[in-house]
Amino acid sequence: MNKAEVSESEVRDVPSKNRQQPGMLRQRLTELAACERARFHMPGHKGRGTFEPEISLDFTEVPGSDNLHAPGEIIRDVQDKLAHIYGARSSFMLTGGTTAGIIAAMMCLCPKGSSLLVPANAHRSVYAGLAFGGIKPVFYRPLETEGGAVVTGELAGRLLDEHPEVRGILVVSPDYSGCLSELEEIARAAHERGRRMITDEAHGAHLRFAGIPDACACGSDFTVQSTHKTLSALTQSSLMHLADPADQTRMQKLLAMIESSSPSYLQMMSIEEAADEAVECGAEVFGNIADRRAEYAAAQTGGEAFYLVDPAERFDSSKWLFRTADGYRDEKILRDRFGIVPEAVYPTEILMMTGIRTTAEDLDLLCEAAEYLNEIHAGEKPASGQKERPMPEDRSTGAENANQQKHGDELFELGLDPGEAVRAASEFVPLTGALDRISAGFVIPYPPGIPVLIPGARIGADQISAILDRIESGEQPQGIRESSDGPAVEAVAAEQP
Ligand SMILES: Cc1ncc(COP(=O)(O)O)c(C=O)c1O
Repeated sequence: MNKAEVSESEVRDVPSKNRQQPGMLRQRLTELAACERARFHMPGHKGRGTFEPEISLDFTEVPGSDNLHAPGEIIRDVQDKLAHIYGARSSFMLTGGTTAGIIAAMMCLCPKGSSLLVPANAHRSVYAGLAFGGIKPVFYRPLETEGGAVVTGELAGRLLDEHPEVRGILVVSPDYSGCLSELEEIARAAHERGRRMITDEAHGAHLRFAGIPDACACGSDFTVQSTHKTLSALTQSSLMHLADPADQTRMQKLLAMIESSSPSYLQMMSIEEAADEAVECGAEVFGNIADRRAEYAAAQTGGEAFYLVDPAERFDSSKWLFRTADGYRDEKILRDRFGIVPEAVYPTEILMMTGIRTTAEDLDLLCEAAEYLNEIHAGEKPASGQKERPMPEDRSTGAENANQQKHGDELFELGLDPGEAVRAASEFVPLTGALDRISAGFVIPYPPGIPVLIPGARIGADQISAILDRIESGEQPQGIRESSDGPAVEAVAAEQP
């Protein structure tokens, strides 16, 4: 039997208490919701608000309800309104999240066999786009900042000059901790060279309401935003915005192939209403959050044990990134004592994510909790200058290059096309014995879902030690299994059927 397969006895071995219990998931979520006083995690509605989907509005395509994949009536009108709100030539509601939008944008821009500049901090959906679209990646490294990653116009211009073969550049902005890239300069650099730009703005559907120029305003050709992350739409609801009407027909066809043929009307309703709400009160809510953050940051003396960090020169104030000596310890205190649940916890950082339904009371509670942590850990120093979400390690890093801006060429060495590697027969091998094997899956620390190993990549020494370090520090990256010889990774089997 292939070691990667689950044996039949494992499949059948369902504990008896789980076999017939009805509504287990509802029960669990209800319990979780009851424990949370303030949610600093996605989705942006924070479990509050007036959107109570009525089952009678969960429709299919009938006369009068239009069709998301061939809009000609009400859905066309809603999408026109959304395009107007976001300043796009056309907008598409996505019910498969930004994940579906990224895949569609990549396939719309890049014919099979062509190449695209892909950043080291790309979300896993980008690798799905490479695999499904037969697109060749040219990897690059954004600049590392205090708390995340940014791309400058200068870097984009240089990369585009060095790689005349690429169709364009994909940029993630804001990144997971809120760092903003130079989108206007990147778009200019791309367009001056006859190339195009895809922006993964999953974390930026609220930016224009917060007074920050978003990707549409900066000239991005393809912009994808998760309306469920910072705005109030139901989870999995996103938007695609196009700048050029020439892309519209191809995009419509691609989305109809990638997404479900039964898109949820409840989700679509929630996307429209999230945008309406942002127009109505986004400026006020995100303005208050930014003011409160600035006030808190200004009052810090620098000696705090639980320290609010400015992650980059330009960042989105809706994200509050704290640095500490022990993230897991503090997360437990935040949860047990204050009912605060963060978006992400790392060994020495905690990321709080606000959203359009974050209230002044939530922020009061967060500030009170931060003060409490500072009191009980008085004198302790947070880990300094450490980034907990670094981009993946290179396959191998020469010590002599440690202080130089890395280029990206070494990020992943593809021994096999990612799409072929995913479909190949595979086996789990101990990480310590995986050097130079071809990875058959992803290794992804969550959140935020940036792979440190991708299907098709030849596994390097530094990648192995980086993954082992993460496991050692308490992370549980997806794609790693325990074996009798320690953590194991999925590799393409030597013998293929
Ligand atoms: C940077 C980035 N891009 C894309 C995605 C995928 O977004 P969605 O969950 O809407 O599919 C995420 C999700 O966390 C993300 O962080």
